[in-house]
Amino acid sequence: MSIAMPAAPLVRIINVWKRRGQNLVLKGVDLDAGRGQVVCLLGPSGAGKSTLLRCINALEVADRGTVEVDGAIIGCAMKDGKLYRMRESEVSRQRADIGMVFQNFNLFPHMSVMDNITDAPMRVRGESRAVARDRAQDLLGRVGLAHKADSFPRHLSGGQQQRIAIARALAMSPKLMLFDEPTSALDPHLVGEVLDVIKDLAATGMTMIIVTHEVQFAREIADVAAIMANGVIIEAGEAKEVLTQPSHPISRAFLARSLREGH
Ligand SMILES: Nc1ncnc2c1ncn2[C@@H]1O[C@H](COP(=O)(O)OP(=O)(O)O)[C@@H](O)[C@H]1O
Ligand SMILES: [Mg+2]
Repeated sequence: MSIAMPAAPLVRIINVWKRRGQNLVLKGVDLDAGRGQVVCLLGPSGAGKSTLLRCINALEVADRGTVEVDGAIIGCAMKDGKLYRMRESEVSRQRADIGMVFQNFNLFPHMSVMDNITDAPMRVRGESRAVARDRAQDLLGRVGLAHKADSFPRHLSGGQQQRIAIARALAMSPKLMLFDEPTSALDPHLVGEVLDVIKDLAATGMTMIIVTHEVQFAREIADVAAIMANGVIIEAGEAKEVLTQPSHPISRAFLARSLREGH
């Protein structure tokens, strides 16, 4: 008889601290994301949510603590039993496996949709143009924009641009997707189309950490919800529990306000 070992989480954040200028922005954050799990991170503005996401994909390096993705410590390598800060070229290689979608889309404005999506796979992964374009066309179909390959970002709505940004991240076949308030910059009538794409992605088993103010959406999609305030996670657990019966007063106030504002 074999004994099944529980799979290690894909993302493991252990006691992460981060100072920015005079501000202690992260004060000992612990959080895991299991393989295929959707983790929604909620909390008031200034809580440190964006900083935490930036530590996960090595746009920032934690002052203390570690972020592990798929067994590798982000930004560091072990040599002779000691941890060393990686060179930027090595960090870029780690980052290539982690998709990030920002509030303001961050598409390359001078590139067509097709070029936005194929750029990194060709440049970073060395894929042929033909292979990269085939996959881009598939991904455009998945986000409902197969007819927009030759358009430029400025000719697209915010919702369309964000769907392209998601397709662009997926083109690198990431192990993990991070979303930083993906719908906050959108007109209300465009929010749904982006949330639908993210829901479809969850159904494929992609591991995702999503910072969002959309409480209803988080209730539908999240396995785990974490509420962050003042640089710490004040509450985390099964999403249904945390998002309907939060125990911390700050969580209760935050969720009540978000729901009142129609999210
Ligand atoms: N470059 C910076 N220098 C100093 N403080 C910063 C800088 N960037 C962000 N902060 C501060 O860090 C805190 C957390 O910011 P952030 O991670 O963006 O929070 P959130 O995404 O939850 O709104 C805020 O108090 C913000 O003012
Ligand atoms: Mg933020």
